[in-house]
Amino acid sequence: MPAIVVVGANWGDEGKGKVIDFLAEDVEVVVRYCGGHNAGHTVKNPLGDFAMHLIPCGAFNRKAVNIIGNGVVVSPEAFTKELRMVQDAGIDMTGRLFVSDRAHLILPYHKMLDGLDEKRWGENAIGTTGQGIGPTYADKAARLGIRVGDLMDGEAFRERLRFVLAQKNRLLTQVYELDPISFDELYNQLMVARDDLMPYIAETGTMVRKALAEGKRVLLEGAQGTLLDIDHGTYPYVTSSATSASGAALGSGIPPTQITKALGVFKAYTTRVGGGPMPTELFDDDGAQMRDRGQEFGTTTGRARRCGWFDAVAGKFSVEVNGFTGGALVRLDVLDVFPTVKICTGYRLDGKVTDEFPSHVMDLERCEPVYEELPGWLASTGNARSFADLPANAQAYVRRLEAVLDCPFDVIGVGATREQTIHVRPVL
Ligand code: IMP
Ligand code: MG
Repeated sequence: MPAIVVVGANWGDEGKGKVIDFLAEDVEVVVRYCGGHNAGHTVKNPLGDFAMHLIPCGAFNRKAVNIIGNGVVVSPEAFTKELRMVQDAGIDMTGRLFVSDRAHLILPYHKMLDGLDEKRWGENAIGTTGQGIGPTYADKAARLGIRVGDLMDGEAFRERLRFVLAQKNRLLTQVYELDPISFDELYNQLMVARDDLMPYIAETGTMVRKALAEGKRVLLEGAQGTLLDIDHGTYPYVTSSATSASGAALGSGIPPTQITKALGVFKAYTTRVGGGPMPTELFDDDGAQMRDRGQEFGTTTGRARRCGWFDAVAGKFSVEVNGFTGGALVRLDVLDVFPTVKICTGYRLDGKVTDEFPSHVMDLERCEPVYEELPGWLASTGNARSFADLPANAQAYVRRLEAVLDCPFDVIGVGATREQTIHVRPVL
């Protein structure tokens, strides 16, 4: 059985957690392939309400193996804390949770530098989650990273840490004029982390490839969203990893030819948290209403999310970059109260209307949304369980989005719980 990838179609927080949670019911392996504990996947299922950051949402399917892939950056503290949370809910992860030995470790100086840079950059700050994600990926590319697998070799690890910390301390003392980090303290701290992580460390790429060869179903769990992708997103207002579908092969260690389905998760409106342009952002009561009804506050940072109408220019770009074979449209119920609903089908840039998503952030900043306005449905959709249950105007809105995006929706979400889901077509 080939692999299927679930990707956020916008700037993250599309509701991937919910979608992955119910898909994970029917797969044998779930792999997180990018990002770190900057992600916040909200899951509400019969076992309880969970805010997942690092451990894949397949944790709740007791038969599924969960893998934190090589493309992820791992904070040992975040890992241990989340594992405890899951286990406290009565879910045993023994023998079904693995961390790639190739994944990079987020160390205390990464978090420090994330905060220091953001402060120093002032109005050019990215608005990161402050978890050390960017500096960790930067070190990975600079060949200054420390990988999870390094922890396993005591003496070599000691030498590696000594070398890397010397570089970091030079930066901290000479550029930031701070005290150096003590080698002994950091080393001892990491030895504790090693004991916590050791039972879970594995060469996970081989595991996933073997599972695929045995015909098992593999779900590749995306984090953040396509427009935050380091290459395809709204650079520099992006995260530091390959969040789009292509990153799934890279970050899990499987060949791209094994991925035959890509499900894009779209919100029925658009949100963004952190800096960077967002053409459909609303500053009026409509935006506030979306934020209130959608509880649009960050799972990781608690920040209020910026809200606006559905941006189909960005959405179409996302469909094309990821090759979505289908979509999940979630939180349709948030729009239940609007007399009219809008879809941004074009941008006005320098007097011309385009439906191309610009590659440069300076251009995107100057784009004005061109809207198509549709009648709202002014009725509750939360109890709909089939497409036919939806009010006619809600059906028309969904159909119009599918047409503009050129992507069919396999799944429609009408509320936070697992039951509040319309299964239009099977995803797996
Ligand atoms: P970083 O990933 O913490 O470096 O943050 C970079 C940008 O990505 C900021 O705009 C963050 O708000 C955004 N971001 C990172 N992770 C998420 C996420 O899981 N959901 C939404 N936005 C995110
Ligand atoms: Mg989130």
